[in-house]
Amino acid sequence: MRLILYTGKGGVGKTTIAAASGMRSAELGFRTLVVSTDIAHSLADVIGMPLEARPVEIAPNLWAQEINVLEEVRNYWGKLQEYLAMALEKQGVNGAIAEELAVIPGMEEVVSLLHIRKQAMEGEFDRVVVDAAPTGETMRLLTMPESFQWYAGRIINWSERTMGLVKPIIRALAPGTDVLALLPKLMEEIKALRDVLTDRTISSYRVVVNPEKMVIKEAERALSYLFLFQYPVDAVIVNRVLPPELSVDPFLRHMQEIQKGYLKTIENTFRPLPLWYVSQYDREMVGLEALSQLAQDCFGAEDPGQIFYTGQAQEIVQEGENYLLRLPLPWVEKDKVSITKRGDELFVTIGNFKREIMLPNVLTLRRATRARFSAGVLEVQFSPPTTT
Ligand SMILES: Nc1ncnc2c1ncn2[C@@H]1O[C@H](COP(=O)(O)OP(=O)(O)OP(=O)(O)O)[C@@H](O)[C@H]1O
Ligand SMILES: [Mg+2]
Repeated sequence: MRLILYTGKGGVGKTTIAAASGMRSAELGFRTLVVSTDIAHSLADVIGMPLEARPVEIAPNLWAQEINVLEEVRNYWGKLQEYLAMALEKQGVNGAIAEELAVIPGMEEVVSLLHIRKQAMEGEFDRVVVDAAPTGETMRLLTMPESFQWYAGRIINWSERTMGLVKPIIRALAPGTDVLALLPKLMEEIKALRDVLTDRTISSYRVVVNPEKMVIKEAERALSYLFLFQYPVDAVIVNRVLPPELSVDPFLRHMQEIQKGYLKTIENTFRPLPLWYVSQYDREMVGLEALSQLAQDCFGAEDPGQIFYTGQAQEIVQEGENYLLRLPLPWVEKDKVSITKRGDELFVTIGNFKREIMLPNVLTLRRATRARFSAGVLEVQFSPPTTT
């Protein structure tokens, strides 16, 4: 079973590429499910067919599904939420506030993920391709298993202490069901989920970009978080690439020249990750036939369901009170390294190789105190912030 998740800035082509990969994987004979976890679904529009909250077969070997997250949240969490609100009210918290507090942050994300894991566990599909929400939300989704554990742990502790007060109410509220037993069970499920999501032999994360400044920056930031949480990233998809032959039309020619610069930036920024390119089409690529063509344009004869990269493209390790950022740059000739850190950006120069690295929060607050480049790996040391 393979789980492939596409993310990227809003509008870059995530849904299109996810659907196209799914289509190609199905054509190659793998039972493939394309599933959208974005609340603002557009998978049905891209595929050109109505979809449902359960997997629907839309072509040989190909299923598609749009998870109805809000409804699931209600089904899955309704009882627990009611209980929490009631326990809070019992402690003197005003009704509306109690209800608000009872909403565990990230429930929607957890529901989507559990759903995907269920598909993975039931083993009906060889591949599950996930069309995720734009980067920010996806990062929230992927960091969720960590923060959820913390939050649920607090609730369990807290409810153990207040059990005496509320037990009779729970009994009345949900006779025969042990609402509180739900949480530890859920915590266990989420732990298992995190194991699947970080398993390199199962999961691959791909970031979709366009040759545009802000899109590249956002992708870099997303990648720094994926690496930090050790989610295996195996490719970057560059979508909307104009043909390289310069056009006679001055407007298009200008666009091509701008893109050329960003395509270079993309190479510098994302290698050693494999890069796959998709042309800018002169029409909307919707419907299975168009998607199949797009997938072949992108991956050629390659199977989009394979694992494209197994290395760790960036790593943050702890060393005493410092963190080390490790970045393999195997193609860079050994030379003197210089670094400059400005806020959440780190500028690296090694000989004539230049790269800007967007840092995750954990490093933004620290000082970059040492950099060295040896055996094809750049290592930057981040020390705790100076206290004044
Ligand atoms: N290479 C391309 N050539 C032409 N049109 C494209 C290309 N890639 C995507 N599109 C079109 O761009 C629009 C946005 O694409 P898509 O819905 O796949 O993006 P998205 O990243 O999923 O967006 P959202 O963040 O809103 O979910 C769609 O109308 C799609 O058909
Ligand atoms: Mg989309």
